[in-house]
Amino acid sequence: MPVNLKHRDFLKEIDFTDREMHYLLDLSRDLKRAKYTGTEVQRMRGKNVALIFEKTSTRTRCAFEVGAYDQGAHVTYLDPQSSQMGHKESTADTARVLAGFYDGIEFRGKAQTMVEELAEYSGVPVWNGLTDEWHPTQMLADFLTMTEHGRGRPIEEIAYCYMGDARSNMGNSLLVMGAIMGADVRIASPKHLWPSEEVQRIARERAALSGARVLLTENADEALEGADFVHTDVWVSMGEPKEVWNERIALLKPYQVSAEAMRKTGKAHAKFMHCLPAFHDTKTIVGKDIADKTGMTNGLEVTNDVFESPANIAFAQAENRLHTIKAVMVATIGD
Ligand code: CP
Ligand code: NVA
Repeated sequence: MPVNLKHRDFLKEIDFTDREMHYLLDLSRDLKRAKYTGTEVQRMRGKNVALIFEKTSTRTRCAFEVGAYDQGAHVTYLDPQSSQMGHKESTADTARVLAGFYDGIEFRGKAQTMVEELAEYSGVPVWNGLTDEWHPTQMLADFLTMTEHGRGRPIEEIAYCYMGDARSNMGNSLLVMGAIMGADVRIASPKHLWPSEEVQRIARERAALSGARVLLTENADEALEGADFVHTDVWVSMGEPKEVWNERIALLKPYQVSAEAMRKTGKAHAKFMHCLPAFHDTKTIVGKDIADKTGMTNGLEVTNDVFESPANIAFAQAENRLHTIKAVMVATIGD
């Protein structure tokens, strides 16, 4: 059976099979090459896309906008201040209105239920640009980047670990995507920051189908040993109160990605990955404020020396947001 993703939603990783994910990764590679060589064929001419951002964004918004423009489509950007959604109009009503204007809708916000409701009521493809629970478009970029930097090995032979707050979108998504794709996935975090029982169950089920090796551990050394890629994310996510910083730092300091942590992989070629934005120095308001209060001047979730080292492939990862998000749009609403 050929893969056909037309009119499909992308709300969470388990919406697609491993074969469909591979199709999207192949399409991303094709679109990336076409852009580089100036041979891109526009498959979204005459299409209109709505981008709803309840939370802030740099990469995801730019990837959807540039991806749509490259493909000949038009976009409308909506944030909570410039639309009625959530204040004067329900999600279901907004979805039914937007369906009359748009061929596809991207949503970034807090509740997974909101992106699910948009999909249910709009009837046009809806793409999750991040919720508290999942970050599925990020996963395509992460897997494209790992295959590009994986020394020619298939995903099934790649080992990666995620260090940090594992019960938020990035921890959940890296666990479940690795399980779907058959990778060797290690999650290192204090136990009460592990993904929920339900997310762990999904991962175990998918791993049984794909042959993925899945490890959840409080022992960072165990997770790092043999890892080709070391991922992390901010210790406090968008929407969380700033009061949790002190507690989070105390819990997650042992999981900071330092040069020593990179050495513990035992792999000279191990790469560092981060969905970004990252707190790696004192050049941001939050980074400086925390450094002033705690003395952590060499970064939070990652030390500045690792971030500024050749091991860091987070900017290649960021660029791949464009090619992979474009692939999702082309596959679901393209000609
Ligand atoms: N990684 C990511 O989603 O970045 P933005 O928050 O800038 O979109
Ligand atoms: N966990 C982070 C990811 C940012 C892309 C957040 O939700 O803020």
